[in-house]
Amino acid sequence: MEIVHTVEWMKQVSRQARDQGRVIGFVPTMGALHAGHLSLVEKARRETSPVIVSIFVNPKQFGPGEDYEKYPRAQDADARMLEEMGVDVLFAPSAEEMYPPGFRTAVSVEGLGDRLEGRVRPGHFRGVATVVLKLLEIVTPRLAYFGRKDAQQARMLGQMAADLELDAEIVVCPIVREPDGLAMSSRNAYLSVEERRAATVLFRALDRARAAIAAGERDAPKLIAAMRGVLATEPLASPDYVEIVAEDSFEPAAHLRGRCLALLAVRLGQTRLIDNLLMEASGSEVRCTL
Ligand code: PAJ
Repeated sequence: MEIVHTVEWMKQVSRQARDQGRVIGFVPTMGALHAGHLSLVEKARRETSPVIVSIFVNPKQFGPGEDYEKYPRAQDADARMLEEMGVDVLFAPSAEEMYPPGFRTAVSVEGLGDRLEGRVRPGHFRGVATVVLKLLEIVTPRLAYFGRKDAQQARMLGQMAADLELDAEIVVCPIVREPDGLAMSSRNAYLSVEERRAATVLFRALDRARAAIAAGERDAPKLIAAMRGVLATEPLASPDYVEIVAEDSFEPAAHLRGRCLALLAVRLGQTRLIDNLLMEASGSEVRCTL
């Protein structure tokens, strides 16, 4: 596995692959890799070659007072895992390399980035869109892989790719969970033993919505109330939001129709976790994917 630290060198490596007619697959990450990240890498390996993974803790997507400084960093362990998985190139630039003095541009996807995560974390999605567009320009993948764990991020990036006619296709992949249902996240490392036990409440709330849907419930406010009911049983958990939205617009949905998402953000002590349930309604059937 080649490890690349500079933009110039990365561009040269990707240009060479492109000139050889190869199909570049790209998995952008912030490192502290877990099985969720690795599932994206595996899919990329099956579908593309070469596979390029980036590790860059992007300062622009952290707000003041958020966890940029203490975000887990594990470069050596990460590099070993990627090497074992047969990744061709690890792109690991420094903040100065990505944002040299005088950098002035920001990318903003109007509307989609203002609600939910965007409202609780102002500027977050602007930072994500800016870094991902820059990474796509440097790496020039045909396919770029993202997790549905961050559903609003994936939707926003798909919109950016469509609006700007990017050559890269945004591929959205399933959520990988711990055996007890907790969605894998680098931030799970922050949880105390007690908080880790309580953290399953996100999955349990979404699973309750799934059960209610299986029993015929289609009304969004009732499903939200059912999820809130489960969250309320966990004293350590305080919800930031519990919403059901149309996947396309990220606007609240009154009833389940087409593709909808139930979205949760919950605080456990200092840690904020998100999770979601995909609901695909057609006719009287609703297919739920956790
Ligand atoms: P990061 O949180 O490191 O996540 C990298 C990718 O892994 C994202 O697409 C995310 O959705 C996916 N992922 C995380 N946990 C997952 C899980 N449990 N199952 C499936 N996929 C999962 O998201 C970011 O980094 C950044 O915002 C980034 C896109 C790299 C831009 O800086």
